[in-house]
Amino acid sequence: MKILVVGSGGREHALCWKIAQSKKITKLYCAPGNGGISEIAECIDIGAGDIPSLLNFAKKNSIDITVVGPETALVNGIVDSFEKEGLKVFGPDRKTAMLEGSKIFAKKTMVRFGLPTADFKAFDSADCAKLFIKKKSAPLVIKADGLCAGKGVIVACTEEEALSAVDSFMVDKEFGSAGEKIIIEDCLVGEEVSIILVSDGKDFILLPSSQDHKRALDNDQGLNTGGMGAYSPAPVINEILETKIRDKIIRPLIEGLYKEQAPYKGILYVGLMIVNNEPYVLEFNVRFGDPETQVILPRLKSDLVGIIEASLDGNIKEIRLEIDKRACLCVVCASGGYPGHYKKNLPIDGLNMALKMNGVMVFHAGTKLTQYLPAGQAGGANNTQYETDGGRVLGVTSIAASIKDAVDRVYEAISMISFNGMQYRKDIGFKALERIKS
Ligand code: AMP
Ligand code: GLY
Repeated sequence: MKILVVGSGGREHALCWKIAQSKKITKLYCAPGNGGISEIAECIDIGAGDIPSLLNFAKKNSIDITVVGPETALVNGIVDSFEKEGLKVFGPDRKTAMLEGSKIFAKKTMVRFGLPTADFKAFDSADCAKLFIKKKSAPLVIKADGLCAGKGVIVACTEEEALSAVDSFMVDKEFGSAGEKIIIEDCLVGEEVSIILVSDGKDFILLPSSQDHKRALDNDQGLNTGGMGAYSPAPVINEILETKIRDKIIRPLIEGLYKEQAPYKGILYVGLMIVNNEPYVLEFNVRFGDPETQVILPRLKSDLVGIIEASLDGNIKEIRLEIDKRACLCVVCASGGYPGHYKKNLPIDGLNMALKMNGVMVFHAGTKLTQYLPAGQAGGANNTQYETDGGRVLGVTSIAASIKDAVDRVYEAISMISFNGMQYRKDIGFKALERIKS
């Protein structure tokens, strides 16, 4: 079977790593991929957003299944384009992908199916939004309606912060048309957890729970990012809570969409806030999480390709997942300045040494493999060097007997890795350790 993975981040490296282990695979491509992915898949120089070229490539190379990583391609209808040509592609169509493509659409869907979520109001005028803020009291959460690469949400602790978020989205148009409409919602206080599921439109299976760390700095300070680290399982989830999440959120959503003849097929990521042991939906993403995938897939013993096929064939009910009981933790090493401006093309050192550690994996995100001639060897042997090529650069990951062991190994591995300006959170997993202690 020939598989094409679309995307270039740490999530796609983890997807390629897991798919490459399947006995069903004869050839694995990734478009466009990154430095690390190029070691396990043939990287194709087509951007993840270039749907016509991806389609052309899949047709010409008789790709059996295309697995889509990033949301933009899904929201722009990659699934509709491929299916029209009779090609198998894993993900939701354009219509259901709006669960991530529009926060207003997502909130309306939550309300329609009675899913627990924070109260909200939608606005298309900055003046009305500001009046509303002045009547309400902070903290409030301001969200741009459209896609903003995980950066379109401001948790405003004061009225001033809330007003300036409205200005940056609607007046200064920081995210272009994605911020023309916004929602303002009540701030929920609790513990976050991500539940990722695979649906075939009618039925679903839950993958292991995980917890992301969205803020840039330790102690959940600083700006929201794409995600600075994750671990799985999330100890906040117990059996009772999982049943509530299934019964109050996932089943009503999947069944409701099926009844509305808009069945949800593919991966659905449900971002939750647990408040007093009750789950509330923060957001939907219509794809694997990044860096959640980097900690979920190492724990998945079952064949991912078999799961994807079952979803495409409407047989997800038949799948019995095998999960590794050990814990997995990933810490993202990011470029200095991320999620703001950062430099690229900086050499990355120490990767080989880190990879020698037992139970340590490094999933590449913003990296590229550059060829260079060592000094004094004009025309001599070629050499390669990994260089930085994005905001989130590496996901240093460990699977170990406990979260504590995984934390220790990841931070030891990171101490061996360096690039100019490298920044990372020093507290990934600490909340889990506190919870386990108490
Ligand atoms: P979203 O993209 O909607 O998940 O928002 C990104 C992040 O903002 C979430 O992971 C939370 O950390 C935070 N957030 C979003 N909505 C709320 C809310 N209603 N209350 C508190 N924090 C929130
Ligand atoms: N880690 C958050 C996301 O993938 O959206």
